[in-house]
Amino acid sequence: MTRRGIVLAGGTGSRLWPITLGLSKQLLPIYDKPMIYYPLSVLMLAGMREIAVITTPEDRAQFERTLGDGAQWGLQLTFIEQPSPDGLAQAYLLAERFLDGAPSAMVLGDNIFYGANLSRMLAGIPAEGGTVFGYHVADPERYGVLGFDEGGRVTQIVEKPENPPSSYAVTGLYFLDGTAPERARHVRPSARGELEITTLLESYLADGTLRVERMGRGFAWLDTGTHASLLDAGNFVRTLEARQGLQSGSPDEIAFQRGWIDAAGLRKRAEMFGKTEYGRYLARLL
Ligand code: G1P
Repeated sequence: MTRRGIVLAGGTGSRLWPITLGLSKQLLPIYDKPMIYYPLSVLMLAGMREIAVITTPEDRAQFERTLGDGAQWGLQLTFIEQPSPDGLAQAYLLAERFLDGAPSAMVLGDNIFYGANLSRMLAGIPAEGGTVFGYHVADPERYGVLGFDEGGRVTQIVEKPENPPSSYAVTGLYFLDGTAPERARHVRPSARGELEITTLLESYLADGTLRVERMGRGFAWLDTGTHASLLDAGNFVRTLEARQGLQSGSPDEIAFQRGWIDAAGLRKRAEMFGKTEYGRYLARLL
């Protein structure tokens, strides 16, 4: 079965108040594009064309207006509502019908990845079991953290530990097999009342079917959880784009490169955005 994608874009964004009082966090700008373009691009680079976007009931219309049905990128987008933010593992319960037994990749709508050969790395992920990505960070206590034995094998995953077993955080990109929704049903709420993704991953770990890929220092995994890191992410994208003259996180470019849309389709988008540098960039690709 072909792998299906999930972008989790729910939540209240309360850590970014007052910016997010009236606007979903995942629609805030990262320099020249809405935040959700970047994680969506990651799923596209990994080859997925059937993608569910999970949003709050209040924000759903904004996402539909921003993304449409996906046809402009040769995608099939499905919108699913998460009535209350009860944890990342809940996404698998909400998406169970959409997944219909297929393996999936879920990306958090506020996670930004950048790195050479990202698509090659993601294309090689096996359909069976689970795969997560470990990334060395300065502040592991803010994340799910991996613990390893002497042989470098993963032995534990701990959510926001006071004493992190390593400096490797689990990024918000999860490749899980078709058993994820069934496993999610057995996840009990944590002390903070959430269905933790970490608990779901522990069930793969217990079965010996959890793989960890390390994202080396050639990759950037950026966080947008605070006002400062949001601005840093925007500046990072601006720096890259200004220097290279290349876009990062452009679903239009990826769809065109992959042949999911033709020149006429791309031209339409270029004309639509003609007044902007983004539109001129798309025109140059033609
Ligand atoms: C969530 C997960 C955590 C993961 C992080 C990645 O944390 O619970 O394991 O490392 O996303 O962004 P949250 O951002 O919801 O606190």
